[in-house]
Amino acid sequence: MATITKRLLLSDLVSTDKIDQVPSNYIRPITQRPNLQSVVHDSIPLIDLHNLFGPNRGQVIDQIGRACRDYGFFQVKNHSVPELTISNMMQTTRDFFNLPEQERLKNYSDDPQKTTRLSTSFNVRTEKVANWRDYLRLHCYPIENFVHEWPTNPTSFRAHVAEYCTSVRGLAVQLIEAISESLGLEKEYIGRQLGKHAQHMALNYYPPCPQPDLTYGLPGHTDLNLITILLQDQVPGLQVWRNGHWVAVDPVPNTFIINIGDQIQVMSNDKYKSVLHRAVVNCDKERISIPTFYCPSPEAVIGPAPELVTDDEPAVYMQFTYEEYYEKFWNRGLATESCLDMFMAT
Ligand code: OGA
Ligand code: NI
Repeated sequence: MATITKRLLLSDLVSTDKIDQVPSNYIRPITQRPNLQSVVHDSIPLIDLHNLFGPNRGQVIDQIGRACRDYGFFQVKNHSVPELTISNMMQTTRDFFNLPEQERLKNYSDDPQKTTRLSTSFNVRTEKVANWRDYLRLHCYPIENFVHEWPTNPTSFRAHVAEYCTSVRGLAVQLIEAISESLGLEKEYIGRQLGKHAQHMALNYYPPCPQPDLTYGLPGHTDLNLITILLQDQVPGLQVWRNGHWVAVDPVPNTFIINIGDQIQVMSNDKYKSVLHRAVVNCDKERISIPTFYCPSPEAVIGPAPELVTDDEPAVYMQFTYEEYYEKFWNRGLATESCLDMFMAT
């Protein structure tokens, strides 16, 4: 009798078992499918950060503020993260996902509380429909607390990822200061609310999919953290919700995509929106995306900035610790698009 091996990772199901149909547990009900024909191709603002530290800082801050208010998403160029650091990060990710199954599985866990873990879909413990994605999730600030947990294969993995996340953290801190200023707050205000600060990242691997109309890489969701800095390869897949349509945001070389997460929406008291986005898959090509999630540390208390709460604009959210928010996020299995509703002021 033939033995049926149940694969833990989607990439092995696709590459080794050579399936030509999407397995039933990945298929969305008809009304929840991506409807790829109705997607609009458009762009999001592209902001040049070159002038962020010169006499025209005010103009750049205005552009960032407008993008946060009107789109919740923007791209940045001249962002100070070296090209080599980025290409090494991309290559080491590709090499990791090309390792033999047994080697990759050494990092496998389905426990969202683990600080380093290779997993699949979103949260296999709680979700009803699976997503067309494998991912390696890492905590990466303070780096010395986590680096010893990271994979050692490929051999350059730790060095390349450490260099990348240290450099991207510099960019995150600059952007958070700029966002603070754009809200009319002190430059250091948001940074001071984040406790000891934290930084996570995901190395997302979306295999080619035989029926991309039936499933998602990731369904529509908002990011729970403060801001996300997304690096993606040249394969399209990211879509952003805007004016009642899904807008495809195609990759632009040497840029990062920045989006506002739920914690900025809360601190800004709804001035800035944490916008829905999703990742779709395609028949031909694997896709890699690497979001850096900049966040408060777990004990940090988050709430609307007092300066942005007035009689006319009362606090929309209550105060909570980031730990409480984080737990709610992972437990709902992306069944609801956002967790913000659970933290409204009464
Ligand atoms: C995410 C995400 C988008 C992408 O990981 O939260 O939205 O393009 N990823 O992979
Ligand atoms: Ni996201």
